[in-house]
Amino acid sequence: MKSENKTLKKRNLYCGELRSEHIGREVLLQGWIQRIRDIGNLVFVDLRDREGLAQVVFSSEKSGIFKKAKKLRMEDVVSLRGMVREREVQSKNAAMPTGEVEVAAEDLRLLNESEVPPFVVADPPKASEELRFKYRYLDLRRPSMQQNLKIRHRAALCTRNFLSENGFLEIETPFLTKSTPEGARDYLVPSREYKGRFYALPQSPQIFKQILMIAGLDRYFQIVRCFRDEDLRADRQPEFTQIDIEMSFVEEEDVFGLTEALMAALFDLINVKIRPPFPRLTYEESMQRFGTDKPDLRFSLEIKDLTETGRKVNSDIIKGVLDAERYLKALVIPGGGHYSRSRLDKLNSRAKELGGKGIIWIKRAEGFKSSLKLSESDFQKIWEKTGAAGDDLVLMAADEEKTALGVLGGLRTFDDSWMDRGKGAYVFCWITRFPLFEWDEEEGRFVSMHHPFTSPHEQDVFLLEKDPLHVRARAYDLVLNGVEIGGGSIRIHELDLQKKIFKALGLKENQVEEKFGFFLEALKYGAPPHGGIALGFDRIVMILTGRDSIREVIPFPKTTSALCLLTGSPSQVDARQLSELGLKIED
Ligand code: AMO
Repeated sequence: MKSENKTLKKRNLYCGELRSEHIGREVLLQGWIQRIRDIGNLVFVDLRDREGLAQVVFSSEKSGIFKKAKKLRMEDVVSLRGMVREREVQSKNAAMPTGEVEVAAEDLRLLNESEVPPFVVADPPKASEELRFKYRYLDLRRPSMQQNLKIRHRAALCTRNFLSENGFLEIETPFLTKSTPEGARDYLVPSREYKGRFYALPQSPQIFKQILMIAGLDRYFQIVRCFRDEDLRADRQPEFTQIDIEMSFVEEEDVFGLTEALMAALFDLINVKIRPPFPRLTYEESMQRFGTDKPDLRFSLEIKDLTETGRKVNSDIIKGVLDAERYLKALVIPGGGHYSRSRLDKLNSRAKELGGKGIIWIKRAEGFKSSLKLSESDFQKIWEKTGAAGDDLVLMAADEEKTALGVLGGLRTFDDSWMDRGKGAYVFCWITRFPLFEWDEEEGRFVSMHHPFTSPHEQDVFLLEKDPLHVRARAYDLVLNGVEIGGGSIRIHELDLQKKIFKALGLKENQVEEKFGFFLEALKYGAPPHGGIALGFDRIVMILTGRDSIREVIPFPKTTSALCLLTGSPSQVDARQLSELGLKIED
């Protein structure tokens, strides 16, 4: 084959784009060496770029580049010109998108050498997370990581387009700002000009987005970084991204409808059809039925209350635990009747990890078998009350209500085989009417369950002083497969009510003035009714890409101990910088 264009100097195709239709064409590829196979008079090279792999063949007939090719090493960067041809039948690879063709190399330029990498760039990774994070640029070369970032990009683009089409304006809010209460610690930035004073990085743009509503912008959004100094885990990073939304003159259903349509657009990216509306469950209902405010509704299993039945059975143990404060709750596991002793032991250990005392189990083979001694008729009472049948397993927890529900709520999702496949792979729900406050033991005061700008239900306002724990909030969370992917509320837009909430939170007038004075001032000048939501963008991308940690979809994440292993931050600063900021480090 003759080259049609000897002057090809710029890349004209990505490696991963090569297909049969390119046969007979000259291509110039640029990328990294994935693999080299030297079989004597031929050298095969797999070349990788953002879009995938291409097979390139060097023949001894072209001795100049053949010698160069023999010296290539993994992760060298090259520029390669050659002719596309069909592969020999026996070397075709149906599993590879470019597997029908190969490139017969005609020119090779080594653009840069690579040292031997600390791990092979391939999926799945064969390196610890520490090593992957330290050499994140190598880790990100893996096709799966590139795919994750592509989906992240498409999800951001889809969000922007969707919200823009729905009349939302993307507006930036400051990073150097004042503490925004979302329940975590702040990251602080010392001021050089005003020694002893600090900016706080925003835990969310909450106050600013409300001020934008007061400013009459009507519909705001931002794909925005938030900063929270809190305990980290698979779905929590110290800096993370929210799709932050606020709308004026709305009620809950307006926010739900918009968010549901956005979810449908986002899941369309992975060809999954989402069918709104999503079920709405009150917090109370969710806790009673599923033992959590983040129920994974791919599992149908529901918790049953057996407290009354428990009081009637003739067991000192059950009677002993069921004093006035305690409850007996149960979960029926279909087909669990044949579980081995060791599997039941695992369930028991898990129940203890979840804060319970263990689990009582009952199954029925020839007669009842159980971890508890009861008469046949008592077993029968319980069995009937739970609705168990045949080969089912009944799991029971006797404890304070919150603990018993928490244990069974945790056990519901213990085993993936309990999933109800008919429910689909992505099951959303809204949790509504959260309590406005919860009691914080450590601080010895009420704290907001969401944040202090959340509106109480109108009917409950009279309880604010007498019975704060029973005030329900106009707050909601969006839950997908047991993951909280968003949260929001209808806000307080009246000055007096906002002041009452601060008071109920135990804040003194001077504290309120110091922290939120500017916001209370803004509420005086015609604040419209408004509400909104913030969606955890990293969590959504994690689910869209099928990963189990947001670290896999954040290009430069921190470890679970909040370290950036690539840059070595946080790091020490020199004495001059500290002195300019008026700071001293204590030993
Ligand atoms: P909230 O604190 O519920 O609400 O946050 C909204 C969503 O952000 C995600 N999220 C996180 N993702 C990763 N790492 C974290 N550390 C982290 N923390 C939260 C979750 C969560 O549902 N201002 C309010 C929203 C509002 O009222 O409009 C707020 O920030 O998916």
